[in-house]
Parts: sequence; C-alpha cells; structure tokens
Amino acid sequence: MKIAVYPGSFDPVTLGHIDVVERASKIFDKVIVTVMYNSTKQPMFSQTERVDLLKRSVSHLPNVEVDSYDGLLTDYMRNRELSILVKGLRVISDFESEFQMASVNQKLLKELETVFVMTRTDYMYLSSSIVKEVARLNGDISGFVTEPVKKAIEEKLGARK
Ligand code: PNS
Repeated sequence: MKIAVYPGSFDPVTLGHIDVVERASKIFDKVIVTVMYNSTKQPMFSQTERVDLLKRSVSHLPNVEVDSYDGLLTDYMRNRELSILVKGLRVISDFESEFQMASVNQKLLKELETVFVMTRTDYMYLSSSIVKEVARLNGDISGFVTEPVKKAIEEKLGARK
C-alpha cells in the first residue's frame, strides 16, 4: 500500500491545498495530511483548529486522513514507518525552500522521498498568508477557501476587532 504524507502548516487550508490533496489521493492509496509547526510562521489558528478545518474540507475524500505532529517531520515519518512525502509546488519562488527542506529531510532520513505536485495554474498565486491579508483588509476570500474556513477567518478577525 502506497501511503503519502502531505505535511504543512495549513493556517488555514486553502483551495490550493485541497487541490493537491485531491490529486495526491488519486495517485496514492492513502494520503495523510499532517498539520505541523513551521518556526518561521506565527499562526492565526491553533493546531486543533487547523486540524478541524482540514477535516471538514477533505471529508469528501475517503482515503485521506488528517493528523498533527509537533516535532521533526522525519521523526514523524520514522514513528509511523512511512517514507513518501507529497508537497505542492507553486511558482518558482517555492522551489528554493522546498528543495532545501527535501534535501535536509533526506539527509535526516535516508529512505525518504519527496514527490512534488505542481499546483494548478488557478492556484499558483494562492497562499494562506495572502488569504489572511485579503480578509484582514475586508476583501472577498470566497474564491480562495471553503465556506467553513471563510467563516472561521471572519470569526477570528471579528473577535480581534
Ligand atoms: O506549509 P508550510 O509552512 O510551507 O510547511 C512547512 C512544514 C510545516 C512542512 C515544515 O516547516 C516542517 O517540516 N516543519 C516540522 C519541523 C521540521 O521537521 N523542520 C525541518 C524541516 S527541513
């Protein structure tokens, strides 16, 4: 059984992420979407909230599981005895950091393979950060995220005002 792990901060999950999950779920027997900590980002949502929003956004995919982990990605892979990572690759600017992460991860866990799924052109520009920025400035984010995510962002921003 080919199982792939799709790690990310998913703060929050966007339609671009969902597109990658849907496509990966057709390539692999099972996809585990794992919410992780990215030390370079200050999240808007707690890990529990991000997991919940992901679960609600991928519930239509029977071979997709949502999980979370606080430590090193390679420890997670080792603990779960898994060796395939799937990542979405957007514009050229993603390449440098993704190449760095894939190389470090492979150095830490020799048998690890990272498979890249090219983001569809409709979502090339999309990121969780841009969605949050548009929402903060009262722009319409309905074309970027699912309805539960839109509501969650609005509630979070409303509570901060
Ligand atoms: O969605 P993101 O923020 O681009 O995902 C990056 C993420 C969370 C996958 C990366 O920061 C990560 O793997 N974090 C877990 C800690 C870790 O293993 N760091 C070393 C990565 S080389």
